[in-house]
Amino acid sequence: MFQSKIAGMGYYVPKNVYTNNDLTRFMDTSDEWIQERTGIKERRFADRIGETTTTMGCQAAKQAIERAGTTAADIDFIIFATLSPDYYFPGCGVLLQREMGMGEIGALDIRNQCSGFIYALSIADQFIKTGMYKNILVVGSEKHSFALDFSTRGRNVSVIFGDGAGAAVLQPTTQAGQGILSTHLHSDGQDAEKLAMYYPGASGGQFLENQPTWPDQELGGMLMTKKMLDDGTAFPYMDGQAVFKKAVVKFPEVIEESLRRNELTTADLDLLIPHQANLRISQFIQKRLGLKDDQVFNNIQKYGNTTAASVPIALAEAWEEGKIKPGDLICLAAFGAGFTWGAALIRW
Ligand code: ACO
Repeated sequence: MFQSKIAGMGYYVPKNVYTNNDLTRFMDTSDEWIQERTGIKERRFADRIGETTTTMGCQAAKQAIERAGTTAADIDFIIFATLSPDYYFPGCGVLLQREMGMGEIGALDIRNQCSGFIYALSIADQFIKTGMYKNILVVGSEKHSFALDFSTRGRNVSVIFGDGAGAAVLQPTTQAGQGILSTHLHSDGQDAEKLAMYYPGASGGQFLENQPTWPDQELGGMLMTKKMLDDGTAFPYMDGQAVFKKAVVKFPEVIEESLRRNELTTADLDLLIPHQANLRISQFIQKRLGLKDDQVFNNIQKYGNTTAASVPIALAEAWEEGKIKPGDLICLAAFGAGFTWGAALIRW
């Protein structure tokens, strides 16, 4: 049985910076409100044309592959996590395979939103452990800006999210005690509708209590209707307080679970890289676990919440800043829509 290690990481963020003040051009909000509630100062938005979830994923992937000391031709499996795919189907995995000129390798898409990268990492880890693959490319990428409501109606959601991509290459290691020590995945669908984008969807909104949007023709017509755009149900919905309450319980729970499984404690942790959901959530977790400032990495201030991309962007940036050294104990953790959550404990 092999262990898997992260051999290289990369990230890409679009060049277009939108500060909180820039958002006031579109909606009734303020820098003060956004910073106080979320910690976010600015985010990046992809070019409307030409830059997609896949193209950003490719940029991050190229850097991760190079840093892993390998080539695109050596990648033997792709796992792509996103909630903002280029197409409803097929997924971004095959688009990245095509874009990067890779061979006819397997490509898997993950739909686990904010915890997508942790789920992807866990799957990659199992494939490496069994010896099935030796060079797995794991990507998290999001282009949120294409589907947010930037009017005042959508301000509680749209000020939080940003675009970007992160990637990692996983390889086997025979060095005892190095690499991914364990991964932990959880879900609870009870509150699935509390953080969701309901359309396009085959339900036509029939399970939604307050906003059923019935199909407008006898057959078909359930994907997206003008009514959904007019009443705002075409855009993502978030019950912010429900998300907050669950996140601040499940984040610490799964981090402690990962440490316990490996007979370690928070004192052993060199760096926690939480999904960059909201700075207030990260601060809550830090306090709850009694971690020092230098034990927790945050970069949401610069990029907003990039969902599946946030953990790999933060991981790559922390590494670039010299905050991850050989032998360090690193915990990646995420919580998001579904709800789904998870953690990965890594000995670097
Ligand atoms: N600018 C100005 N005012 C706003 C904005 C905005 N962008 N958004 C909402 N408001 C207003 C509301 O209209 C409301 O006004 P009212 O009192 O006149 O009705 C007021 O601010 C308070 O609104 P609430 O929704 O109650 O604000 P709350 O204090 O709950 O903060 C927030 C909202 C920041 C979303 C908070 O609930 C939160 O942090 N939730 C966690 C959710 C989260 O972080 N999600 C991240 C994505 S999911 C994930 O990654 C796990």
